[in-house]
Amino acid sequence: MAAAIGARIPIAQPAGHMVVDAGGGSTECAVISLGGVVVHQSVRIGGNKIDEAIANYTKKKFNLLIGERTAEEIKIDIGTALIENKAEALAKKIQIRGRDSITGLPRTIELNQDQVNESITPTLMEIINGLKGVLEKTPPELASDIIDKGIVMTGGTSLLHNFDKLLTKQTGVPCHVAEDALLCVVRGTGVALENIELYKRSISKK
Ligand SMILES: Nc1ncnc2c1ncn2[C@@H]1O[C@H](COP(=O)(O)OP(=O)(O)OP(=O)(O)O)[C@@H](O)[C@H]1O
Ligand SMILES: [Mg+2]
Repeated sequence: MAAAIGARIPIAQPAGHMVVDAGGGSTECAVISLGGVVVHQSVRIGGNKIDEAIANYTKKKFNLLIGERTAEEIKIDIGTALIENKAEALAKKIQIRGRDSITGLPRTIELNQDQVNESITPTLMEIINGLKGVLEKTPPELASDIIDKGIVMTGGTSLLHNFDKLLTKQTGVPCHVAEDALLCVVRGTGVALENIELYKRSISKK
């Protein structure tokens, strides 16, 4: 709910709005109408699991152990949820440093965007399959509002390159990242506290 207020969604209207807040530890999805949460689902998968997937990939494929920080940097640097141009993805490379799991010695390898995409796709699909549950549970009249207005994404993981495009492709519903996606929850909580009387009902509901 805070994410929705922060994303400046008119939550009090009868029309349904769907907000996805993809964070580090979890991804939450809610359909909001008339200031209340109609359907809500939380998947315990977020950016941390995406980082883990990258680290598991370099370990399995290259016997290279990398830390969480390195994995996160790879994700933010060249990670993408959807490859639009294979040749470009293959050409986009970064050098990564880690420790060889067999010799124990430091080693550098090159990773391209296509490989990073391959490593994170199963995790992204887990998130998306969790979110599809919400769409299935949404009452038909609100579902049609959502198809009209699209899904608003917030949270750090919504900034993963092309995550909105992958979600659009997988759900058939237009998705877009909110402005200041990282700050929506914080800003929404602030707005709610400043207008506590107005939002009292919505906040206590969620
Ligand atoms: N540009 C970016 N591209 C991809 N991922 C990003 C980007 N910027 C931040 N992230 C990821 O966003 C996640 C943090 O998001 P956020 O700050 O919304 O989480 P949180 O609110 O702390 O976690 P949670 O909501 O799970 O409690 C981290 O996994 C981080 O790696
Ligand atoms: Mg969060």
